[in-house]
Amino acid sequence: MGNIFRNSYLAANLTFEDDKITWHCPEMDDTREVMMEWETPIMNKMAEIAVSAGDHVLECGFGMGILSNAVQARNPASHTIVECHPQIIVKLKEWAADKPNVIVKEGKWMDLLDDSQKYDAILMDTYVDDDLHVTFRQFCETKISSNGGKVSWWNFSGGTTDQWMKFYWDNVTFTEVTGLNPPENTYYNRDNYFIPLKNLSGTRKTLNGIVTKLNDVDVIYNDSNSSTKNLTPITANQTILSCEDPTNPNLIVKTLDPKPMYMRCQGVYNINNDLLAVTGNQPMLIKRSGSWVTKNANELVVGDKLYKVDNTEVEITSINFDSSNTVYEIIKFETDYNYFVNNILIKKGGEDA
Ligand SMILES: C[S@@+](CC[C@H](N)C(=O)[O-])C[C@H]1O[C@@H](n2cnc3c(N)ncnc32)[C@H](O)[C@@H]1O
Repeated sequence: MGNIFRNSYLAANLTFEDDKITWHCPEMDDTREVMMEWETPIMNKMAEIAVSAGDHVLECGFGMGILSNAVQARNPASHTIVECHPQIIVKLKEWAADKPNVIVKEGKWMDLLDDSQKYDAILMDTYVDDDLHVTFRQFCETKISSNGGKVSWWNFSGGTTDQWMKFYWDNVTFTEVTGLNPPENTYYNRDNYFIPLKNLSGTRKTLNGIVTKLNDVDVIYNDSNSSTKNLTPITANQTILSCEDPTNPNLIVKTLDPKPMYMRCQGVYNINNDLLAVTGNQPMLIKRSGSWVTKNANELVVGDKLYKVDNTEVEITSINFDSSNTVYEIIKFETDYNYFVNNILIKKGGEDA
């Protein structure tokens, strides 16, 4: 239904009135509001809490341009607005014509994932948007400035408890707007509303971990054969093999708890042509000059040796740093013990820095 609804919206002939934009939804045989003027206090407050002068701002969904005006009033360095409905794109271009710091992007916000532009503030207020709850969090974590930034979005529930509208982030703060008194409509009829805000720390921090473009890293888990298992289906409370010390190579069975985390990062060290792809600050156990020592991945050199599960050593023959803007999945165990990836011993933990 979601896609039908969205396609139907994108093809719809919208009705523009002074205080609202509406469309007729054939599937529902119903008239729906895309945006209404009563939201102005919410939009103003959202800009106030999320945007500072000099920011590079990304706004998703132009609608009536109420939030766009509020953002402009805060003097952003640049103000990118992405919009997908053809009629609203026309309105957006008219509005932007005399605003040199506005960059218009036609299409969906998801389309921006692959360009390298980063933002200090990301404001999301879209409509019939199926991508939202699946990818918005990763999108923001990828697109936020390396110095960190703020994210705010339309709060579907209006309250403070709905996990879905929090996009599964912790530490979302809320600013209440009261006295709204909306005219009856099909989407929000309460007098108060809570604006969510998430402070993101930014990608200047490189998350440590083992990364793969392919989600095909094998971890050794414990069954009778100590089989390898693809990381993707591994969940909490499975057992994997660990080894604390290559000089005393006892393989220990540990319970994996909680499950691996999948995150995004950019820039990885590719060791021995895809044997491992590792972020710079991931600690590694290596043998150098005859001794096992811990070095971060960005300190490894050709000739260092890695520890293999069969108690042999694998010499590092190539290290290539991939600094492209490729978005990787990163896999990081929240464990207190070492583990094996693609048969190679990976050191636990490490500071994200
Ligand atoms: C609720 S309105 C935005 C209202 C706006 N904040 C304002 O203050 O007027 C939602 C807008 O998002 C646009 N939209 C919906 N899905 C989108 C997507 N995936 N990418 C970009 N724009 C989208 C819609 O066409 C519509 O213009």
